[in-house]
Amino acid sequence: MMAFQVQQLNVGGYDHNFSYLVVADNGDAALVDPTGDCEKIRRAVEAAGPLTPRYILLTHGHQDHSECLGEVCSFFPAGIASHPNHPLSGRIKLHDGMRLPFGGGWIEAIAMPGHTRDSIAFRLSDDSALFTGDTLFVDCIGFCRSKDMFDTITKKLLPLPDGLVVYSGHDYGSVPFRTLGEEKKFNPYLNCPTLEAFRQQLRHLE
Ligand SMILES: [Fe+2]
Repeated sequence: MMAFQVQQLNVGGYDHNFSYLVVADNGDAALVDPTGDCEKIRRAVEAAGPLTPRYILLTHGHQDHSECLGEVCSFFPAGIASHPNHPLSGRIKLHDGMRLPFGGGWIEAIAMPGHTRDSIAFRLSDDSALFTGDTLFVDCIGFCRSKDMFDTITKKLLPLPDGLVVYSGHDYGSVPFRTLGEEKKFNPYLNCPTLEAFRQQLRHLE
């Protein structure tokens, strides 16, 4: 049974951004949205011991999620994986449902249009974690096109297992991370029965 460890890195950046280091028990490693304090990312990678850099995963094209990309490539030489429409579209072009081999398991790319057209969430194969970028935060969601986001929430997010820990792109909630099951319960944007109700709820998004 493979295991993954996730480090949530409070990297500051544009607005309380998070980057993530994911390490599998065979040493395979991935970075999610390297940005903000590049030194902090470097220290985390070095402290994690001998790693095999496999992927740099980008959740969407907004610049505040990839400020350290150039720098991390010098100490974490890995394939950059993003949606084909991502402005920095990497060597690995992700499509919905694509599974990247990782540590005896995989990382699945799930297309989640709404915040942007190139938004992707990443799910670990042991169902321990879901990296949501600016699609889903603790307690709220990202600015979005309402129809696309409502479809993403109802067709893509809500069917996912409750036990996934949601790791988002910014520290905007009451806690830095929470399970998807708790988001389904407490996040008002995940509790709208109709598109109209969702649009009403969106008026509360600052
Ligand atoms: Fe964004």
